[in-house]
Amino acid sequence: MAYRHKYTKVMRKWLKITLITLGSLFILAIIGALIGWMYLKSTFLEFEKDYAENGAIKQITVDGFTFADRNSNGKLDIYEDDRKSLDERATDLLAQMTLEEKIHLLKGSGLGSAMGREKELPGAVGKIVPTPRLGIPAIYLSDGPAGLRIEPKREDEDRTYYCTAFPIGTLLSSTWNEALVKDVGTAMGNEALEYGIDVILGPGANIHRHPLCGRNFEYYSEDPVLTGFIGAAMVNGIESNGVGTSVKHFAANNQETRRNENDAIISERALREIYLKGFEIIVKRSQPKTIMSSYNKLNGIYTSENKYLLTDILRNDWGFEGLVMSDWFGGQNAVAQVNAGNDLLEPGTKKQWDALKEGAADGKLSTEVIDLSVKRILKLVLASRKMQQYKYSNNPDLKGHATITRQSASEGMVLLKNEKTLPITNAKNVALIGITSYDFIAGGTGSGDVNEAYTVSLEEGLKNVGFEINDTARNAYLKHKEANKEAFVKPLGFDAMMHPYSPPEMSLTDVEINHIAETADLAIITIGRNSGEGADRVEKNDFLLSEKEQAMITNISKSFHAKGKKVIVVLNIGGVIETASWKEQPDAILLAWQGGQEGGNSVADILSGKVNPSGKLPMTFPVKLSDHASNANFPLDGEPFNTMSMLSSMKEKSADEKVKNKDYTKYEEGIYVGYRHFDKAKLEVSYPFGFGLSYSTFEFGEMKTTQVNDTIRVTMKVTNIGDRSGKEVVQFYTSKPSTAIDRPVRELKAFAKTADLKSGESTEVSVAIPVSSLSYWDETVSKWALEKGKYQVDAGSSSRDIRKTVEIEIL
Ligand code: BGC
Repeated sequence: MAYRHKYTKVMRKWLKITLITLGSLFILAIIGALIGWMYLKSTFLEFEKDYAENGAIKQITVDGFTFADRNSNGKLDIYEDDRKSLDERATDLLAQMTLEEKIHLLKGSGLGSAMGREKELPGAVGKIVPTPRLGIPAIYLSDGPAGLRIEPKREDEDRTYYCTAFPIGTLLSSTWNEALVKDVGTAMGNEALEYGIDVILGPGANIHRHPLCGRNFEYYSEDPVLTGFIGAAMVNGIESNGVGTSVKHFAANNQETRRNENDAIISERALREIYLKGFEIIVKRSQPKTIMSSYNKLNGIYTSENKYLLTDILRNDWGFEGLVMSDWFGGQNAVAQVNAGNDLLEPGTKKQWDALKEGAADGKLSTEVIDLSVKRILKLVLASRKMQQYKYSNNPDLKGHATITRQSASEGMVLLKNEKTLPITNAKNVALIGITSYDFIAGGTGSGDVNEAYTVSLEEGLKNVGFEINDTARNAYLKHKEANKEAFVKPLGFDAMMHPYSPPEMSLTDVEINHIAETADLAIITIGRNSGEGADRVEKNDFLLSEKEQAMITNISKSFHAKGKKVIVVLNIGGVIETASWKEQPDAILLAWQGGQEGGNSVADILSGKVNPSGKLPMTFPVKLSDHASNANFPLDGEPFNTMSMLSSMKEKSADEKVKNKDYTKYEEGIYVGYRHFDKAKLEVSYPFGFGLSYSTFEFGEMKTTQVNDTIRVTMKVTNIGDRSGKEVVQFYTSKPSTAIDRPVRELKAFAKTADLKSGESTEVSVAIPVSSLSYWDETVSKWALEKGKYQVDAGSSSRDIRKTVEIEIL
């Protein structure tokens, strides 16, 4: 009895101690969380309290004109007078600002804005902060390359703010049609304008160095000239609305794996000829309002802290006049960033703000440097629509933009194979195989995504042009969807970025396949792929088809062919996949890319023959991934994204701690990217750069070249000898047959897309090739150098279908 009593007492005591310990730990955890939250709030979220936008601006009238009296001094200041030049206005405004106000302007308003929590414009991810004392407004920045990415719904409002999901960048470059891309840009920019956004964070102009880069869909091509011409057209289109662009990610952000610390080690020649060239062309052809530096390091220095890149090359060599902003939380040292010419730190942190103030106080950041960056920011603000008090409607012409999307998407889709199958003429009942046929992918994930109101599936698209959808195939899909309900729920917001929507593929039994082949006139198999920001793709089940997909193609092809019926494969993908092993099986292959919200209609327009395909590949489809020279130095394991590495200041690793292709990537292939490598190494490819079929055939006439001063003018007649109207893309490559240096076999220098030519109709295409574009980067003197002597100009329907060649001499 006494023993039990003693035991109970001891137990009670221990229980008490345990409870007190647990309680204290709990309280400590709460205090810890509170301190953490307060730190997060004051450092990242809400450190801007004194800088709320000044909404009460009075007007004054001078000489019969009305102006905003922004600093409320009752008189017209130079910066308030929009009859004055931008430079005069910015100089005056700068002179009125305190040092504190200037430094404040060099960074955004924090994580809250990056998370799209801006009250005035939910979903906008960045901001140029206001200067209330001088009545300078806040400017909103929003993603991205395929259309605006703002929140479609707002608290306590019934109406919606959907944006148009335009085709992805890679599809737009596949149009090889600068005028069309400009129109898409004009529509995109108009959406920004009408929703009150002043800068679109796009287009993306990085090179497709390797097919597995998770963000290739946002970018244009493996070739810098195509990237540059299409990118400039996009910038010119968007900026024709008076809103800005931010061409990104400058530069060499060619992998997503460890993007925040990866050091891209690149030779000067490869940089100038390949990775910078597209940006250079864009700057020279369209002078974008802003450029976004990238996350990665370049030859040991963060690009946002790299003065050689941002000042010597971008501004001094190329003449860029706009501002450079960092990628979100990019770089490590705020003072080094501004000193390098990275004017604006987005989305900005309290730590950066403090560091800049400290830099100004201890002289590490001079007044001249601060003034230079602030002036660039002020020029953008002064020229903005917001400053002009533009009354945005919140009502862009979404219907009209959907039409542009439908047209441009069908023009960028690439017909890879067509064995007397397309356009579909005598089929009514179409069997749709593969989940993506019913659940079309409009675009990639991450900041390249758009919140669109709807996506037209292939099923809907085909119905819209009068086809009947086979019930057996459809029911099999519905059954599969029902059995995998959770996997078919689309992730939203941040979750969507981390986990691209990709439900499991369906499979069909032999009985089902037989029944489908019996009841349908034709089969369409859709292969879907989705990727995006933060991670790279992998080879297995992504670059390569999965076993289920292979079986789907083989079994459907066998059954349909046994009945004399055709099989079409539609590729609803954002990046290159393997095609060589299975392309013999179907009768036709259409590379539909991710065509935006009207994707299904655009595909149906091509399949039905309403549109004659005219897209051409902006990159090579290799036989094997390992055929790419860059494959020797690329992360192949699809390492997932680590959010913390984006927000935290990372400790620099020692040389032996650094992991190849993660912490650093050596671009050992140099300039041999894409077709430059395949041609030099004489490798067979599945589909070459520039390839794409049409329902028509085009004949190239005689090619003529003339050289006037520094320009080679090339003209050539193109005739549509097919029996339906269509467009052809003529590609002009140059080569130097006898050269003293190591040069690619041929390189794209210009291209022209014809108008829609009627059967039998001819046109003359004409392009200008600057003589300077024949130069190579001579590393021995760090300059462009031009070899004299004979060159060849090739006109091709693809990089491996050269139809005409003319020799020219550079004296
Ligand atoms: C992306 C940028 C994007 C920014 C803002 C970053 O993570 O790399 O492309 O514009 O976020 O969303």
